[in-house]
Amino acid sequence: MPQSTRLLPPTPEGLTEAARLLAAGELVAFATETVYGLGGDARSDIACARIFEAKGRPQFNPLIVHVPDLAAARVFAEVGEKAERLAAAFWPGPLTLVLPLREGSGLSPLVTAGLGTVAVRVPAHPLAQALLRAFGGPLAAPSANPSGKVSPTRAVHVMAGLAGRIAAVVDGGDCAVGVESTILGLAGEPTLLRPGGLPVEALEACLGAPLATGGDAAKPSAPGQLASHYAPGAALRLEVTEPEPGEVWIGFGPCAGAALALSETGDLVEAAANLFHLLREADALAGPDGRVAVAPVPERGLGRAINDRLRRAAAPRP
Ligand code: TXA
Ligand code: MG
Repeated sequence: MPQSTRLLPPTPEGLTEAARLLAAGELVAFATETVYGLGGDARSDIACARIFEAKGRPQFNPLIVHVPDLAAARVFAEVGEKAERLAAAFWPGPLTLVLPLREGSGLSPLVTAGLGTVAVRVPAHPLAQALLRAFGGPLAAPSANPSGKVSPTRAVHVMAGLAGRIAAVVDGGDCAVGVESTILGLAGEPTLLRPGGLPVEALEACLGAPLATGGDAAKPSAPGQLASHYAPGAALRLEVTEPEPGEVWIGFGPCAGAALALSETGDLVEAAANLFHLLREADALAGPDGRVAVAPVPERGLGRAINDRLRRAAAPRP
């Protein structure tokens, strides 16, 4: 739904207003030292669904979670010895660490896109730091540009791409680094997933060993990386308007007799927010050899990302 996007100043009043909007599940873009981020409450399914909607992302790529310091990261991520060392050397700064997700993390499953890992970043920009502290929780924030467009390094760039789709932008001036953070996978052997604002040489010097490459942050959802609790055990049938006896039917829009509903009103943002939770619930209802059927979801807006995820879940497994 179109909304008027406010440009907030980097003052205590501006930050208080930004934190209030975020607490209400709205989206607020803000400056970091790398690029502007499109922030939403990482614990809120609706806020995270809105991020994908605002960016027009055709897939649920996992999002980076921003926190003010290492202590805040420990709430939802397993911080091992190597992560400790890197954090001490480079946080706050343009380094994102992909770490094992903690059980009961409290993060929306849309943030991790069903992976068992979470990308964590502690930005150095004073505005980002002040906003994280004013908000008092983790912020999911991809770069604040429409999907497929160049990342923004000024508030006017964010406005040009996302005005009308988000609640506000906090103006923090030009981004000093200007390219996204370096992403390092630490769930297994240290692996460079995306080169970025922190040189690889600095990471290798800190770890005392060369980094493995070959990871691809843009495609982390290779089937082998999907957490088993999101690969449903039940067989999944898609675009089902008439379920067969014994199938657990997940509805979208009016679906008389559906056991579960992505959205009874056919709202795609609500459906995206419910998706990962409902896949689990349907799996539990269906039982080990059960069958799950999902009603058709229109291939527009967030529907494209929902269908992409459903097709992956329904694909034959090895
Ligand atoms: O500098 C930055 O990192 C900026 C600012 C706003 O912090 N953020 C940013 O986010 O570039 P985004 O969403 O544009 O890029 C996030 C990248 C994606 O390529 C995504 O696939 C990867 O991080 N990613 C997120 N979680 C991951 C995970 N659990 N495993 C592997 N890759 C992950
Ligand atoms: Mg990006």
